[in-house]
Formats: sequence, C-alpha cells, structure tokens
Amino acid sequence: MTGKILEIKRLKKYFPLKNRLVVKAIDGVDLELYEGETLGLVGESGSGKSTIAYMLVGMYEATEGDIVYKGENLTQAGIYRTLRQKREIQIVFQDPGSSLNPKRTVRKSLMVPLAVHDKGLSREQAYRRAEELLEEVGLPGEFADKYPHTLGGGERQLISVARALASRPSLLVLDEPTSALDVSIQAKVIGKLVELQRERNLSYLFITHDLSLMRNVADRVAILYLGRMCEQARTSEFFEKPRHPYTQMLLSSIPVATAEEEMLKPAKILSSGEIPSPVNVPMGCSFHLRCREKMPICREARPQMREIAPGHSVCCHLYEQ
Ligand SMILES: Nc1ncnc2c1ncn2[C@@H]1O[C@H](COP(=O)(O)OP(=O)(O)O)[C@@H](O)[C@H]1O
Ligand SMILES: [Mg+2]
Repeated sequence: MTGKILEIKRLKKYFPLKNRLVVKAIDGVDLELYEGETLGLVGESGSGKSTIAYMLVGMYEATEGDIVYKGENLTQAGIYRTLRQKREIQIVFQDPGSSLNPKRTVRKSLMVPLAVHDKGLSREQAYRRAEELLEEVGLPGEFADKYPHTLGGGERQLISVARALASRPSLLVLDEPTSALDVSIQAKVIGKLVELQRERNLSYLFITHDLSLMRNVADRVAILYLGRMCEQARTSEFFEKPRHPYTQMLLSSIPVATAEEEMLKPAKILSSGEIPSPVNVPMGCSFHLRCREKMPICREARPQMREIAPGHSVCCHLYEQ
C-alpha cells in the first residue's frame, strides 16, 4: 500500500423532503482509500452507498464535509471540478442496461469520453481506439458496431468498464457492478476488474451489498449502516475478528463453502428487525433497535469511530473504554 489517493471527511448528504422532513442519506462518514487498493464498501439496500458514489464523481453535491482527492478538495470545487479531476475519477453503475445509451453503437458510446478527455486523438484515431478499449476489457473489437441490447449483461457491463477506462482514470467507483449479473458471469467480470487493477495500479472503491464477494476482492472492508460507518478493517482481520454486532450479524448470514469456514463464522445470529428509514434515524446508535448487545447508553449517545487495533476501527459503545 502506498500513498493516500482519497480522503472523505465527515461527509453528509441530506435530502430535504416536503413537510420539513429530511432524509439523512449520509450522516458523517470518514473513509480513506490508498493507491492501488480495493476498498469494499458494503451495506444493505438504502444504507447510502450510491449516494457516496454520486458525491465522489460530482453528480451530487455534499451537504457538509470534505472529499479530498490527491490533496485537492473536491467538495469546495463543487461543480467546478477541473477536467483532470473529472477524468481521473470514473464510475461504473449497477445496471449496464440503462447506463449505456440504447440508440448509440458501442463505438459511439466509447468515443464520447475520448472526445472529452483525449483531445489529442483525431476522429479516426478515436474510432480505432474504441476497438482497443474493448479488447483491453477482454471483448472482441467487432463489438464496436453493435448496439447494447444485442449483447449480454456481462458484456454490457464490461463495455461500461471500457467507457470508464477511456479517460485513463486513477480511481474507479464501482457501484454494485455485478449485482445484476448471473453468478458465473459475475465471476468473469470481477476477474477482469482485478486483472485491470493490477496492470494499471487503479484504486477501486468497490460498492456492494454482498459481503461474501469482498473476501477475495477487497484489501479492506468498510461497513455502512443508515448513512454511518460501523466498522473498517483489513479483509483478513475483518472476516476473522468482526467486532461490531451488526458486522457479526451480516457475517453469520453468509453462506460458506467448507466446514472450516463454518467454524470461523460467528455463531448464527438471526437478523432481527428491519432497517429503519433514514428519515427517522434512531437516537444514539442508529443500530440499537436491532442490536442484541444494546446497553442503556446506546439509546442516548451516538458512538464514535475508534481504532481498536492497527487499521481496525469500530463505531460501537462496547469498545469505548
Ligand atoms: N434524490 C434523493 N432524494 C431523496 N432521497 C434519496 C435520494 N437519493 C437517495 N435517497 C435516499 O437515501 C437513502 C440512501 O440511498 P442510496 O444511496 O441509493 O442507498 P444504497 O445505494 O445503499 O441502496 C435511501 O433511503 C434513499 O431512499
Ligand atoms: Mg445503490
């Protein structure tokens, strides 16, 4: 692991609704990402994963807090990010069906970012470059003249990856890039992502609701719950010594392959309760309504993130002393 490429500090995103209600989609998140690593950002549906992704690429403005990329404050820049900042942070969306324009050939979709971010290329060069980009993600160059709907989900998602790579980014935000795919195709796309990362020293923020996927992909894992961070650790430590009751609950529900893995799993903890709405976040610890280890303080005071071992942080009153 080398230098820090991204730092998110006390980030908040509130969406005002009617009747003076507010959705606290992200409510004070801190995160760091290092060059060349994969950070797995995991959370249930509605926990705020996409909201973070959209703030990172500038589609949403933060309500509060800072996004610092290579030492430059992007939240202060707002919509006035430099072309280089836009070029270097790219996103791959969950649904490869709707993220590619159905009326455009694959070539045309790939030539758009080239026209914006690779101005040195002539039209003819960009025309050819589109085919190279396809080959770089393991697809045949002839796909350039096809329309997205004639291709499979995995192929379309690889095209979205090629489009993101067209601008030669340093940081890729992968927002559930394989959630919509069959398991066998999922493995293929992830294999390609891992290979591309090694070749190009890319940094990945890999967003998923599928914690088990992170075991073999992520260098570190971070758990989000109702717009707040629960736990963060290096992947091996995370799976071997989960500390937050919520993490333990998530891990106990993961299917495992071997008896050995079954032994390592925390005792089966039944997932209890529904995830509350971010319009009505519980006082104190936002997880206390579902927590089997709750104490009186959990209802009253919001816990703070605390480093309990090198690189391992937990946000829970159980670890406050
Ligand atoms: N534009 C918006 N307006 C109001 N609420 C929103 C908006 N975008 C997201 N939300 C709410 O913010 C919360 C987090 O959403 P999201 O970031 O999409 O979660 P995830 O990607 O983890 O499923 C959800 O409760 C969602 O309904
Ligand atoms: Mg999402």
